This record gives sequence, C-alpha cells and structure tokens, in this order.
Amino acid sequence: MKVYSSDDIVPPIVCISQEETSPTSCLFHPTTLLFSYKFSYFSSLTKAGWLLTIICFRVKKAMATNGENGRHQEVGHKSLLQSDALYQYILETSVYPREPEAMKELREITAKHPWNLMTTSADEGQFLNMLLKLINAKNTMEIGVFTGYSLLATAMALPDDGKILAMDINRDNYEIGLPVIEKAGLAHKIEFREGPALPVLDQMIEDGQYHGSYDFIFVDADKDNYLNYHKRLIDLVKIGGLIGYDNTLWNGSVVAPPDAPLRKYVRYYRDFVLELNKALAADPRIEICQLPVGDGITLCRRIS
Ligand SMILES: C[S@@+](CC[C@H](N)C(=O)[O-])C[C@H]1O[C@@H](n2cnc3c(N)ncnc32)[C@H](O)[C@@H]1O
Repeated sequence: MKVYSSDDIVPPIVCISQEETSPTSCLFHPTTLLFSYKFSYFSSLTKAGWLLTIICFRVKKAMATNGENGRHQEVGHKSLLQSDALYQYILETSVYPREPEAMKELREITAKHPWNLMTTSADEGQFLNMLLKLINAKNTMEIGVFTGYSLLATAMALPDDGKILAMDINRDNYEIGLPVIEKAGLAHKIEFREGPALPVLDQMIEDGQYHGSYDFIFVDADKDNYLNYHKRLIDLVKIGGLIGYDNTLWNGSVVAPPDAPLRKYVRYYRDFVLELNKALAADPRIEICQLPVGDGITLCRRIS
C-alpha cells in the first residue's frame, strides 16, 4: 500500500490548460510554429527580434486564455468548464454570495497554505452541502480532510446529532481549520483520526458493527487507493446511501492523448483514476452519476 507522507503530497489540481499555455511549452505549440513560419516569410526582423515576437505572442495568448487578472489562479479553482470566465461567473453569482461566513473564513485561511490547491473548491463545497441535506445524511465519513473545507461543508449540513468520521494522515492541516469549525459550533460532530484510512476501514469491517451504517462517504485522498477504498466502503455504506469519489476527471487528463504534456503526478495517478472509473461503471452493486463539478465527482448509490 502506498501511503502519502505529508511532505510528498503534490497538489492534485493543476489545469491542463495552464500547462498548455505556459510561456515555455507554448513556444513549441503547432500554432506558434505555423505563425512564426508565416511571419518570417513576410517580415525582415532579425532572428532575435523574431523570437521575441513569438514569445510575446504566445504569452499574450496564454494570458488571454487564462484571464489577464490571473483569476484562474484563485484558490480552489477547479474547473473543467471551457471558459474561466464562466467558472468565475458561477462563483461570483451563485457561490460566494451564499457561502456561509465560516466556510469563507476557512477558504481564506487555506489560501495561505502552500498546498492550497488541494482544497475542495467553493462550488463543490456548496454542492456537497446541498446533497447531504437532500439525502438527510446523519452518519458520514470523509477520507482526505486537509484543512477541512469539505468537512465543514458536511458538518454544516448534518443535524446537530450528526456524525462524521474524518480521516487524514496529516493532523497539522486539520488543526489549521479546526478553530473555525469550533467557532461555528460544529466540532462535536467530528471524530478525527490521524493516519492512513485503509487499516481503519479494515478494522471497522472486522468489528462487524459498522456494516451498512453510513449515509454518505466522501473520498478525496490518495487516488491509487480508491479501488481499495471502494472494496471496503461498499460494505460500510448503507443500501441507498452514497459514496462520492472526488477527482474522477483528474484535471481532464482522462481523455488526454498519450503524448500530452502532463505533469508527472497527473500522469502517474491518471491510470488509477481510469481504472477506478471503469470499475465503478461495471459494478452492479451501485448506480453511478459522474458530475463535472470541481475536478469531477462520481456519486455511487449502493443498491445491493
Ligand atoms: C485533496 S486533499 C483533501 C482536500 C479536502 N477534502 C478539502 O476539502 O480541503 C487530500 C488529503 O488526503 C490525505 N491523504 C493522503 N493519503 C491518505 C491516506 N492514505 N489516508 C488518509 N488520508 C490521506 C492528504 O493528507 C490530504 O490532506
């Protein structure tokens, strides 16, 4: 079993579009080459001036694609929508104005964290909160807490006697968000366990008293273990209950061509995500719904 250490976790959220439009990689983009060929034919620029023109052109294009104000860099920005402007519209029109004060505070605290790209996006937090209310969830589990944004979204949705078993290998990050959760009067709903989640799940299954006891389980941790989690969670979630697997579109890399310029960790985990998606689609014990919210979330409703 591969376990992340707190030092080697890489933020799993980087837009492919950002990589494609980064000033260096875009220099070799076919559009650039075609442009420079045409331009050299008609221009009398020196080689250096020529190169500079290409760089300026591509950088300007990159900025136009991502928004000159750099908003695509906003913490929690995870979107598979084609336009950053459209995603920003969703945030500004429907998400931020309705975001509870505590979630806003936690989002802003998390923004200062060096791994802030790992946080659940605000629109996904809003979605989870609504979903949990719709299914009247009371007993839930979360694997992968980080500073607790999705945990807080969950805690806010549960009734006062609701429970969340929250697991993460890193307590320090959880403790960054904990004061906000405490101030919101929600800490009593959370049982936090530090350490890898798999052994805890194994223990719960062995105990026997947790079978079919969870209304909702959110998985947002080590992607190479998602299938291992699924084998256990299918036993722990109740029939009619939901498991939500996060990052199932994995930065859009699930449809990237083999030679696409993917970052190393995106390429590494992509195969696990592809395998998971196939396995979920073929699993007769669940109904599934793949949603393009955030980095992709697959909801699995246990039916047998
Ligand atoms: C993407 S972050 C979770 C983001 C979180 N849901 C939020 O709303 O901010 C992934 C988390 O999974 C945790 N993690 C990685 N491997 C784990 C494991 N084997 N068991 C439990 N947690 C793990 C990491 O420490 C990290 O905090």
